[in-house]
Amino acid sequence: MLTARLFRPLSQLQGKTLSFSDRENGVRRTLLFHSASFVPMGRRTYADAVNPVGSKAVLVTGCDSGFGFSLAQHLHSKGFLVFAGCLMKDKGNEGVKELDSLKSDRLRTIQLNVCKSEEVEKAVEIIRSSLQDPDKGMWGLVNNAGISTFGEVEFTSMETYKEVAEVNLWGTVRTTKSFLPLIRRAKGRVVNISSMLGRMANPARSPYCITKFGVEAFSDCLRYEMHPLGVKVSVVEPGNFIAATSLYTPERIQAIANKMWDELPEVVRKDYGRKYFDEKIATMETYCNSGSTDTSPVINAVTHALTAATPYTRYHPMDYYWWLRMQVMTHLPGAISDRIYIQ
Ligand SMILES: NC(=O)c1ccc[n+]([C@@H]2O[C@H](COP(=O)([O-])OP(=O)(O)OC[C@H]3O[C@@H](n4cnc5c(N)ncnc54)[C@H](OP(=O)(O)O)[C@@H]3O)[C@@H](O)[C@H]2O)c1
Repeated sequence: MLTARLFRPLSQLQGKTLSFSDRENGVRRTLLFHSASFVPMGRRTYADAVNPVGSKAVLVTGCDSGFGFSLAQHLHSKGFLVFAGCLMKDKGNEGVKELDSLKSDRLRTIQLNVCKSEEVEKAVEIIRSSLQDPDKGMWGLVNNAGISTFGEVEFTSMETYKEVAEVNLWGTVRTTKSFLPLIRRAKGRVVNISSMLGRMANPARSPYCITKFGVEAFSDCLRYEMHPLGVKVSVVEPGNFIAATSLYTPERIQAIANKMWDELPEVVRKDYGRKYFDEKIATMETYCNSGSTDTSPVINAVTHALTAATPYTRYHPMDYYWWLRMQVMTHLPGAISDRIYIQ
């Protein structure tokens, strides 16, 4: 009776959702919800790609730099009609200038701060009025815009928690809600850029982790809701690509550190001490040059999510160390992963 109750909602889903097909070997496995973690990147296939790409419009947020900047160019080269949302378009940012210099009628930069509802609504209008047939909607939304910070829970102000959430989490929710009517009409795609830190937590990263865990939850709820409407929702969980993007720079780390120390409550400053604080900042500074400088696994994952007939639910562009750590932390009992990873 209990078993029937627990499994009924799943058993009512279509078989397609409950298993995935290995297109190379033509077999169906019995895993719940397709996870890219079981499919090495090289084996990914585009055999069942959506067509034609040329008529499909895609918005990528956060294109001033990093993944967004590369993605806008890559999707343009694939033939998409690309709208590149840029935080600093109105300030003439270098990345925006470079994208504009392509002078293509299929790549258009638009001013877009995902924290400002009026800019998001204006972006909807710009895109809707640029579509050949707005009733057919737009194909894709890539929620990429994000910021990061660091610091132990006791070092992090409530303002900082809210500031990061405003971009990473509420920016994603706000933009998605505004574009869903267009995406639904096209039975299109929503691709949310989360992080490996949206699946496993890390010390000194709570302001970032909670927003990415939130993006994961939002994406899962949306995927369930959109499934009957033909819209596919994927999450991309990059590992460490810090050296390749502008998420952290030494200048940014120093600025955050100075502000953080100035604003620390006296009791925290006294209990932890300046030496401990400076050591933590030095560790963060070394982190700036860490990770992969090749962003192509992330770009390829997003492209697959937008173009494959059956995109994956989750993509894990990350090196084997982080992939293994994520499996251990998400699949083994907490007591075991704590034993391994809490030093
Ligand atoms: N790099 C990594 O290792 C890594 C790992 C996992 C996940 N991610 C995620 O990947 C995404 C892209 O980050 P990235 O690494 O490419 O860093 P990035 O180079 O800093 O790119 C983030 C982009 O978002 C923009 N942005 C910031 N606030 C915004 C706002 N309110 N509205 C619109 N755009 C805004 C930034 O604009 P400005 O440049 O003008 O500030 C920047 O162009 C983020 O969601 C990040 O959390 C990155």
